Amino acid sequence: MKKIFALICIISILLTFSACRKPIIETSTFTYVEKGEEILIEGTAGSGNSNNLGSANGGSNENGSSNDAGNEIIELSEEEMRYKPTTLTVTLYDSQKSIYGFTYNTTENPIKAVIQIKKKGADSWSEYALNSKKALYFDSEWQIFYHYISKAEIKLDASSTYIYRVCDTGAQKKFGKYIGSEEVTFKTKNTKSNSFSFAHISDTQRGSEQFGLSLSKITDKVDFLLHTGDIIQNPIESDWKDMIDNNFKYLSRIPMMAIAGNHEVNGGFKNYDTYNHFNNSIPPQSSTASGYFYSFVYGNAKFIMLNTNDLNGNKLTTEQYDWLVNELKSNDSKWKIVSLHNPLYSVGIWGSTNNTIALALQEQLKSIFAQNKVDIVLQGHDHTISRTYPLNENGLPENETFETINGIEYSKNPNGVIYLTNGTTGSVTRGPENYDKALFKYATASKEATWSEISIDGDKLTVVVKHYDLGKESVYYKWGINKS
Ligand SMILES: [Fe+2]
Repeated sequence: MKKIFALICIISILLTFSACRKPIIETSTFTYVEKGEEILIEGTAGSGNSNNLGSANGGSNENGSSNDAGNEIIELSEEEMRYKPTTLTVTLYDSQKSIYGFTYNTTENPIKAVIQIKKKGADSWSEYALNSKKALYFDSEWQIFYHYISKAEIKLDASSTYIYRVCDTGAQKKFGKYIGSEEVTFKTKNTKSNSFSFAHISDTQRGSEQFGLSLSKITDKVDFLLHTGDIIQNPIESDWKDMIDNNFKYLSRIPMMAIAGNHEVNGGFKNYDTYNHFNNSIPPQSSTASGYFYSFVYGNAKFIMLNTNDLNGNKLTTEQYDWLVNELKSNDSKWKIVSLHNPLYSVGIWGSTNNTIALALQEQLKSIFAQNKVDIVLQGHDHTISRTYPLNENGLPENETFETINGIEYSKNPNGVIYLTNGTTGSVTRGPENYDKALFKYATASKEATWSEISIDGDKLTVVVKHYDLGKESVYYKWGINKS
């Protein structure tokens, strides 16, 4: 059924757009390759090796120091620009092994797509090839084009400072000039440390400027970003460029762990947009057409990232639900943090009072989250700021006891799951609507550029909800959980 549905979607997209617009480039060679239940865009082998793993420290130096473009501005022709990387993102591909994922897109099929990287102060670069694959994208007129996604996974030393750049050394030979990104200073972290922090960001969609303001305050403070979806407004490439390229100076030097929201498939276009812009370790059970689910471990915390675009009757599909249960039960991390876009418990228009998806997800998940001692659930979609009391397996609030440590109130071993929304890190703000006040410790409207900084230090987890406005960083709420 999924194959048929996906084919119908693709055919309807083509008919819709081909009927009312002039011919689109390459539509005559618009071909798909079926693989499993997914329909993949025709793949083409890019450059280099299929496995880029290995230590970048002391690896082979194929390119030497012959390319010293640095960050000088190099004029590129229109043809040369087609090889220049765009929408570069970095992820924690396998955080426990200090393997980082890189993804970028180019208009043209790369001749030799590489990442050149060296420890700060080193003379020569190590060079790693990326895998490149042809993929479909929509432009702002919803016309269909192709570009090429390039991905690599590279093992780096922990707690080290690197310089890297992504470029096409094949195109460089062809055109006689450097075609690539600026050089980036990238600091790796000790991903096994039980003392770390991350920023929960969400729903940036129509606010790349507000996202940038937030990132200017976050990037050098936390170890990674966790985005609960609606990264962009529409699944069109210009929105991705607006959001990512305009914030290159931040997003190129901090990993972002993201899940898809409904806007990544706005209009029902399941065109692999999230997969095409991020490099995560995705379990085989997960489709990648409308986003994907995955998990990772950082220090003493397990992060489970769900895909609420992947629903059946408003509940997680059997494949995703079974995977989730196994992830929860097979985990011995001190902290369990679940992230999803559509909320179970929130206070806005998509919240818990009468939204059918929220109610269905509650029915399906509230008991397994509580039974498996999930600590917090990070939610998006509602653009509001809220925190529930600890909710038990029936979704009812449990009493809390508090203790104050360094001026912050900590909930002492809460007997239930605390569900959070932390506003919009973009520009689309919303306020609370009707909600069950018995469930929520606090609820308020977000302002533009809102996020939370969440730090874990052994058995304490601290949440600070912030926003950035008119050049001033303000704190909404500050609280924590103490599991000592
Ligand atoms: Fe949403």
